[in-house]
Amino acid sequence: MKKVLVTGGLGYIGSHTVVALQEEGFEVAIIDDLSNAKIEVLENIRSITHKAPAYHQIDLKDKAAVQQFFATQAIDGVIHFAASKAVGESVQKPLAYYENNLGGLVNLLQEMDRHKTTHLIFSSSCTVYGQADALPITESAPIKPAESPYGNTKQVGEEIIKDQTAVADLKAISLRYFNPIGAHESAKIGELPIGVPQNLVPFITQTAAGIRKELSVFGSDYNTPDGTAIRDYIHVIDLARAHIVALKRLFNKDQKAPYEVFNLGTGKGCSVLEVIQSFEKVSGKKLNYKMVARRAGDITAAYADTTTANKVLGWKAALSLETALLSAWKWQQTL
Ligand code: UD1
Repeated sequence: MKKVLVTGGLGYIGSHTVVALQEEGFEVAIIDDLSNAKIEVLENIRSITHKAPAYHQIDLKDKAAVQQFFATQAIDGVIHFAASKAVGESVQKPLAYYENNLGGLVNLLQEMDRHKTTHLIFSSSCTVYGQADALPITESAPIKPAESPYGNTKQVGEEIIKDQTAVADLKAISLRYFNPIGAHESAKIGELPIGVPQNLVPFITQTAAGIRKELSVFGSDYNTPDGTAIRDYIHVIDLARAHIVALKRLFNKDQKAPYEVFNLGTGKGCSVLEVIQSFEKVSGKKLNYKMVARRAGDITAAYADTTTANKVLGWKAALSLETALLSAWKWQQTL
């Protein structure tokens, strides 16, 4: 049985991926510093899979702790989620973002190299494309200058990994997520935003639950059919499944190149108003919302060309926007 290290394994996408890994029979070790996750998630994972993943409270910036971990564990592959992800905060605290997201990555790669751990999946983002010149966005679309230090850490993170695959015995896949939403169908794990949610779906579910008074729709004057911005919302369960497929590609030595990149989205763009309408339909709740000015740094439209992931990975998003929103709503009601 292969042993997989999941950094950030108690976080939103990490926890769903841990469940998927365990269900596929992998042995899982989680590293998480709890900076944006709760320890209860560990028990919730166990209650879904009936298997407790090993857990190590380690901050990847702590080089000695990472060294100690790799010195005592035989790891076959790593899925690296651990990173700070608040776009606005990253603008305020650029050094903290570079230190955490890039310093942590470098420490991880050094120990993987020392211990000949040669398989890595990296959690990247469609943010690397900025406002793409053409839609849908393919993997060969140019990388645009980052709008935020957070976005820059994803771009530079990819470059660091690619550079390392050129000289070391490292095989890596970067997965560029579009907009992950939804929760596990058991409603035992899901997204746990700290403070006021910045992302659309947690803000919608908190508004429906009465925690927020009103949703602000950022911008109704975009050049889109209904004037609101368009994104590609993908169910976190589909996303988790893609990690398993990508990891197996590494383990089976199916890669065509030491470093590969795949878009993970549904391929379908939805406007903010369409998401609201869909949420109202599945939840049966009328949502309180108002149109306000655009949010700084937001783009008009982004959705994935998923041809490469379909053809090369044999992966396709299977779950609908409605299913994702209903699962997010069920999860919200447990909080
Ligand atoms: C954002 C980040 C992206 C990051 C992703 C992580 C920016 C510019 N991009 O994507 O880098 O990878 O989160 O999940 O911040 N919206 C509202 N009202 C709200 C919240 C959002 O109208 O209260 C709108 C936004 O303007 C946008 C859409 O909903 O059009 C989606 O927003 P969000 O969920 O924050 O994701 P992104 O901005 O696409």
